[in-house]
Amino acid sequence: MSGLSLKNVSKHFGMLEVIHDLSLDIADGEFAVFLGPSGCGKSTLLRMVAGLEPLSGGEIHIGGKRIDALAPGDRGVAMVFQHYALYPHMTVRQNVAFGLRNIGTKSDEIARKIAAAAGTLEIAHLLDRKPAQLSGGQRQRVAIARAIVKQPDIFLFDEPLSNLDAALRSRTRIELARLHHRLRATMVFVTHDQVEAMTMATRIVVMNQGRIEQVGAPMEIYLQPATRFVASFIGSPAMNFLAATPTGDANGRIMVRLADGTTVATAIPAAALPASGPFTLGVRAEHVLPGAGSPARVDVVERLGERTLVHALANDGSTIVYDEPGDVAPAIGDHIQLTIDPAHVHLFDAAGRAYHADRIA
Ligand SMILES: Nc1ncnc2c1ncn2[C@@H]1O[C@H](COP(=O)(O)OP(=O)(O)OP(=O)(O)O)[C@@H](O)[C@H]1O
Ligand SMILES: [Mg+2]
Repeated sequence: MSGLSLKNVSKHFGMLEVIHDLSLDIADGEFAVFLGPSGCGKSTLLRMVAGLEPLSGGEIHIGGKRIDALAPGDRGVAMVFQHYALYPHMTVRQNVAFGLRNIGTKSDEIARKIAAAAGTLEIAHLLDRKPAQLSGGQRQRVAIARAIVKQPDIFLFDEPLSNLDAALRSRTRIELARLHHRLRATMVFVTHDQVEAMTMATRIVVMNQGRIEQVGAPMEIYLQPATRFVASFIGSPAMNFLAATPTGDANGRIMVRLADGTTVATAIPAAALPASGPFTLGVRAEHVLPGAGSPARVDVVERLGERTLVHALANDGSTIVYDEPGDVAPAIGDHIQLTIDPAHVHLFDAAGRAYHADRIA
């Protein structure tokens, strides 16, 4: 049992409040990804779990045992840092062995563990090199190997892939997912990269300014973002946001008018919404359908290979992005017509809270 429990954890540096009364339970064996913009407190939170930063308030429990007053080495965690933190004067083998020697592990057992980890991470041929003789991706794998041999209850990863090139990053993502499946260990991974979060997490924790915005499975967060912040942070291209004015309801579903005069009969229950206030309609590119509907003009075309993103200007000058198959691309300046799929729109109130269509079971 090695679940992680954060109970009312807070952190301030002097007057600066960085983590605000944060509580969360991560179950044994989960791959939890903390996702949020730079400066939102991800590393601080991870460092508090690892014992590298004292808490200002609250408690941290691992496997039901309170650990926030224990020394880092007694917490059963292993952390992989963004910048690897390998000892430059030691070989890869010595780097990986270092933590084990410190706790008095026998030489033959160290050798066995290193061989196993080196096999998993394909670094067996690098064991006698120094870190300076490795590429960034190889150093990264050494840092992960060093964590694996400790057999921690919980792995803590602080943006470990951000220094890798795109191809290696996606390969390492797959390796980590495989590793998690094989070890069945609890993993906590922080990143500002939504693709890493979507692809690896069993649960995503979206953070903003030291607070949790939403916790959920990747597709839950994608399909039912709890706030406008979450909606704007997840999904590429970013969700379209358009000012919307309620005009009444049809069969209990809210109808709104957009700034260009288009009326959208949404699938969102009218009763769920606040009585008044400015609303913003949110719709993803794949739910804006070209062919018929309101007039718009093509402004920018981005060809991505498998699909084409088209940035169009509505009559009122607002931008709306939709997608086409990769082999379709209108020309800049083309006059087109667009329809927003009413079943897939979200509404956000003035405070950024989201309202969705009823979930289809
Ligand atoms: N030792 C420190 N002293 C004062 N302020 C700090 C300290 N460490 C972090 N901070 C501040 O705390 C906030 C959170 O920092 P943190 O490093 O946790 O962010 P992060 O989410 O990991 O960001 P990034 O994605 O850029 O790594 C930031 O505003 C940062 O400036
Ligand atoms: Mg950080």
